[in-house]
Amino acid sequence: MKKITIAIDGHSSCGKSTMAKDLAREIGYIYIDSGAMYRCCTLFALDEGLIAADGTIDTTTLERRMPEIHVSFRLNAETGRPDTYLNGECVEQRIRTMEVSSHVSPIAALPFVRAAMTAQQQAMGREGGIVMDGRDIGTAVFPDAELKVFVTASDEIRAQRRYDELRAKGQPADFDEVLNNLRERDRIDSTRAVAPLRQADDAIVLDNSHLTIEQQKQWLLERYAERAL
Ligand code: CDP
Repeated sequence: MKKITIAIDGHSSCGKSTMAKDLAREIGYIYIDSGAMYRCCTLFALDEGLIAADGTIDTTTLERRMPEIHVSFRLNAETGRPDTYLNGECVEQRIRTMEVSSHVSPIAALPFVRAAMTAQQQAMGREGGIVMDGRDIGTAVFPDAELKVFVTASDEIRAQRRYDELRAKGQPADFDEVLNNLRERDRIDSTRAVAPLRQADDAIVLDNSHLTIEQQKQWLLERYAERAL
């Protein structure tokens, strides 16, 4: 079987990462969570005081300091899934907080942030054999990917999934805050000037509102088998 490139894009909190991770593990591919890379840029900006209380970003300093942001992924032997590292520190928990979620879309809309992350993502996928999930993978990062999937689900179902996930990790969460955050991120992600969230013309759409994790995994494995032959 040839090693193909698999791009999984879609709205926020629709379970892209779960299906992408499961598929990669099953078929022995590398999995890259591109959203984690934008979340790392946001965490860096917050830690360095580059985002004011009113949300204003010090873009001049952030652009100058972009070369200081090094994101990598290492397999966690316990969970069997990759953890995200920012400059050598495991930030898997810290990048998933509501604070980071509430600032990430304006950071990800900055052209210089996108240029830096896109270049790193393309370098990671040069050899194929990769599953990457995000917003612009099938449109901007790997426009020639052999398999492109666009995932969505209803707003309420997505908010409930993210709310349950945060609660399960012991993080404070309010359902309405989670729902408003994902709607606001979808709005910013879909309307930004550079690489907005949109379905690639050749993507297969999956509405997983009423699918179990096992069912969506099966669906994706079948799509993979069709393309990788
Ligand atoms: O998992 P969730 O849906 O909450 O989001 P994520 O995949 O972790 O991505 C967080 C944010 O990063 C998104 O809301 C986008 O603003 C941005 N992002 C992006 O602009 N391009 C990507 N390829 C991936 C994420």
